[in-house]
Amino acid sequence: MSDFSIAVLISGNGSNLQAIIDAIANQRLPTKISLVLSDRETAFGLERAKKANITTRVVNPQNYASKEEFDLALKTVLDEYHPDLIVLAGFMRILGKPFVQHFNQQVINIHPALLPAYKGLNTHERALASHAKIHGTTVHFVTESLDDGPIIAQSSLIIHPDDTPESLKHRVQQLEHTIYPLVISWFAEKKIAWLADGIYFEGKKIPVDGIKANGSPLSRG
Ligand code: GRF
Repeated sequence: MSDFSIAVLISGNGSNLQAIIDAIANQRLPTKISLVLSDRETAFGLERAKKANITTRVVNPQNYASKEEFDLALKTVLDEYHPDLIVLAGFMRILGKPFVQHFNQQVINIHPALLPAYKGLNTHERALASHAKIHGTTVHFVTESLDDGPIIAQSSLIIHPDDTPESLKHRVQQLEHTIYPLVISWFAEKKIAWLADGIYFEGKKIPVDGIKANGSPLSRG
């Protein structure tokens, strides 16, 4: 088994966590998950982790007087497990500057839109409302600014006239379940570097909108 270890942070369903668990089981991802951490006790992803015999912890923000104290508690728990990479997978909290600086270049997130378009919430509704033709998902480094860190990779799809927020969510998540394990495998294989002038993949600088993980936009499906 690989020595490269990740911690996955979740708040909810954990379908991306499941995709990572499955990719490891299928030997597509040379990683071990040392910890699944949730800010919600009821997150279904915790059940997925337990089923896969992965250690789980809950850090409940209601037990802390401030956001700073919550971030510090998160950091303290994560430090116990020494993850090489911290993978945000539907973790619904913004991490502060001390946290991000402590885990410098070690935190990635997946966002359900083609950043820099549609930062924040309700991305599928907003893509439909603005009559976007292309939509998708982005894997990026986490900085202290929401959904704003350097982009590593994107997968895209064509929006169809009959798409709804629900159908888009489903189709975007299908892309996510492929791209996120793939990008994590790049980290495990030491293919990604964040240098002063940008992100590099296997020694070559990548475009600011990241590696296109599915080539041209997918057709329906
Ligand atoms: C994903 O769509 C991801 O892009 C966003 O939150 C969602 C999490 O879904 N950050 P799940 O919990 O992995 O099913």
